[in-house]
This record gives sequence, C-alpha cells and structure tokens, in this order.
Amino acid sequence: MVSPAISTVSPSLNLFQEISRLKREMNAVILAHYYQEPDIQDIADYMGDSLGLARQAADTSADVIVFCGVHFMAETAKILNPTKQVLLPDLEAGCSLAEGCPEDQFAAFCQQHPDHIVISYINCTAGVKALSDIICTSSNAVAIVNQIPKDKPIIFGPDKNLGRYVMQQTGRDMLLWPGACIVHEMFSEKKLVQLKMQYPEAEVIAHPECEEPVLKHADFIASTTGLLRYTQRSDNRTFIVVTEAGIIHQMEKASPHKKFIPAPPDNQCACNECPFMRLNTLEKVYLCMKNRSPEIVMDEAIRLKALAPIQKMLEMSLLTVA
Ligand code: 13P
Ligand code: SF4
Repeated sequence: MVSPAISTVSPSLNLFQEISRLKREMNAVILAHYYQEPDIQDIADYMGDSLGLARQAADTSADVIVFCGVHFMAETAKILNPTKQVLLPDLEAGCSLAEGCPEDQFAAFCQQHPDHIVISYINCTAGVKALSDIICTSSNAVAIVNQIPKDKPIIFGPDKNLGRYVMQQTGRDMLLWPGACIVHEMFSEKKLVQLKMQYPEAEVIAHPECEEPVLKHADFIASTTGLLRYTQRSDNRTFIVVTEAGIIHQMEKASPHKKFIPAPPDNQCACNECPFMRLNTLEKVYLCMKNRSPEIVMDEAIRLKALAPIQKMLEMSLLTVA
C-alpha cells in the first residue's frame, strides 16, 4: 500500500534540486549511513559509519540534522544536539539489535551483576544507553575494551557477535547480551565458501556483526568505514563483501576499476539489505524536510543519562580511532 504522504510527491518534481533548495533554506545538514540506497548516499553532505556519524553530529553547526539512517543513530544525534531539530525520514527505521534489548530486561540483567562495567554497542535505544557506562561502535569497541582495567568485569550488549569478536581480539571475558543483527546473521558460510572457490583471487572483507563461522573466512574484519578504506588501500582488485550491500556504492565510487561481490544470504531473499535502513527513500527525505517531520523528540532526563556514556566513548576514541 502506498502511504498517503508518499502519494503527495509529484513525479515531475526534481527531488535532488528540491532537497538541495530545502537544505539551504533550513540550514540543514544531511548525514547518511553507507546502508542507505544509492540516491540518498549521493545527496548526503557526510557519509559515515556509526562513529563517524556521531562525531559529525557532535560537530555540526547546522540548525537541522536530516538523519538518513536508523532510529538509534538519529536519537544519538539528538542526544548530542538537544537544541537542534533532528529529522528521520521514516520513524519506523529501527534495528533488530535495539529491538532485541528492551530497557527493563537489560536493567534487570545489569542489576544481577552490579560489579560489572556496562559497555553498550551504539545500536541500542536511548533507554539502554542511559543504563550504560560507556557506548561503543564497531570501529572503537576493541580500543575501548582495551582501556578498561583488566580486573574490572564487563557486561557487553546488545550484539553477541560483536561481543564475541571483541573478546577474541582483547583476550577479555565479557558477559554478553544475546542480541544479533538480522542482516549479518543471515550470511551463509556454505555459499561464501562456494563464492571463494569461484573467485579464488578475491579477498573476503566482513563486518564483526557476522557470526563466527562466516568471520573465520574473512581476510579483513572492520566497521563499514574500515572496510571501505581497506578496499581503497589494498592492492587486490576483487572483494567479496560480507556486510549490508549498500556500502558497495561507495566502494565502487572510490575504486571504479575494482570488483565488489556481495556475499549471499542464506536464502533467496534480498536479506543482505537491511529492511530498516531501506525504509528511507529519497521521497521521504524530501517530505521530512518539507514537513519538518518526523522529528526525534526525547525525554530530557533520559537524554542527559544517555549523553554521559556517549561523551565517554567520544573521549576514549579520540586518540585511538581515526
Ligand atoms: P558501522 O557503520 O558502525 O560499521 O555499523 C554497521 C551497522 O550495522 C549499523 O547499523
Ligand atoms: Fe540494525 Fe543490522 Fe540494520 Fe544495522 S544492518 S541497522 S545492525 S538490523
């Protein structure tokens, strides 16, 4: 069914021009994650991984932030910018990790282990951030855990796959919340092995949200920005990309002479596209700017509690993560 809001956009409208006009009029900045559809990536002022986007949101002088990503990302921008208007093209753009970690259950889990420091992946709600001591992203999780005193026990949530990867990299034992990303857990080890046999020259690059059997085939593991940079500096010309397929748009733009093969999911669906990220469309970006809605609104007490662990993350990764 076509939503009433979408049907109000005339097909003759040049959305690229209209968005650019609104951006000037509103003094807005468009921040976009690599998993957005290519048209949205092409109108963004800044593209980044979760850490890059949080840093950009913390530094912007714009009055309005149009966040082309998912809810927890726009919420993080609002936590950092209470006086700015933060727009999200589709408020339904959630995340399986955030949804799989309800605040009350996470609070009970933390209460059972009061001596533990709580490190939460940024892919969680503001309520869960408010219960955490430090936030991390996939690009700084290892660096942050390495800064925690060795005798301090750690709770890590909500991604068990990233948590397990961090445990391997740091040699630390951590209590993991059992959440997972529905996109990264869908990659098939069997199909990946078949693809490697088909392209023996290819390097396998993967996101740490993937499950262990898939990650063990990876030549390089990093956040989305880390993977993109790797494809630019590697001498290799063919890559099997084991993360959401949207990032291939930037990889191809940066290295047009290289070949990027999306890793296949477990079944016939387009499960290597995040259904939440892909709710945003160019039409919805235009409409949210025109209507100044949907907007992120937040309870001030929660915002202040969630701000402290985000600031801690930004401080702890200032010198260690580019
Ligand atoms: P990064 O962009 O931090 O690598 O995270 C990937 C992701 O799944 C975001 O939802
Ligand atoms: Fe969440 Fe996974 Fe989608 Fe990222 S790709 S927003 S972790 S469901």
